[in-house]
Amino acid sequence: MTSITRIAVLISGNGSNLQAIIDAIQNGLPAEIAVVISNKGDAYGLQRAQKANIPTKVLSHKDYKTREDYDEALKDLLEQYQPKLIVLAGFMRILTAEFVHHFENRILNIHPSLLPKYPGLNTHQQVLENKDKTHGITIHIVTAELDAGPALAQAECEVALDDTEETLKQKIQKLEHKLYPEVIQQWIEKHSQKISD
Ligand code: GRF
Repeated sequence: MTSITRIAVLISGNGSNLQAIIDAIQNGLPAEIAVVISNKGDAYGLQRAQKANIPTKVLSHKDYKTREDYDEALKDLLEQYQPKLIVLAGFMRILTAEFVHHFENRILNIHPSLLPKYPGLNTHQQVLENKDKTHGITIHIVTAELDAGPALAQAECEVALDDTEETLKQKIQKLEHKLYPEVIQQWIEKHSQKISD
């Protein structure tokens, strides 16, 4: 039997992917969210976590002089909760190489494009500007290079002639909410042997 895996979820905003993970856990995903951490105090995802009785922490980047200082504090905070897996769910921060190496192969990210196409921000806008016929999402292992780690899964949708940034966002998020819990489940199954050692 797969043991329950402790995960930490990092957010900066709405937290709809966090909600999808919370819902999946309620439906049998063998994970427990040990903590939700946000770099923004007003992130709506914090309320979602509190409603589900999940511990929350706010670690504001504004309280740290450098990215290195922030990531060091984030690492220390995470270590208090001993997560096996760190799930980035709309966490709008670039992580230092030191942080990534500390949690090597244990950080997942979801990105709203078919990487390697469109790393970084404003992906829906770029899809529209380039008149792409398809758009999609990528879930990948986080490495020190932004949005460039090995992809674990992708999902695609069609871009219609009348799509806008808003309608694309809706299509993309529907894909995200289904795929992220599935990939987390796969990660857990793959690592469950190591976890129970
Ligand atoms: C998602 O679209 C994800 O791809 C990107 O940020 C967004 C977060 O949305 N990294 P939410 O906060 O989970 O609703």
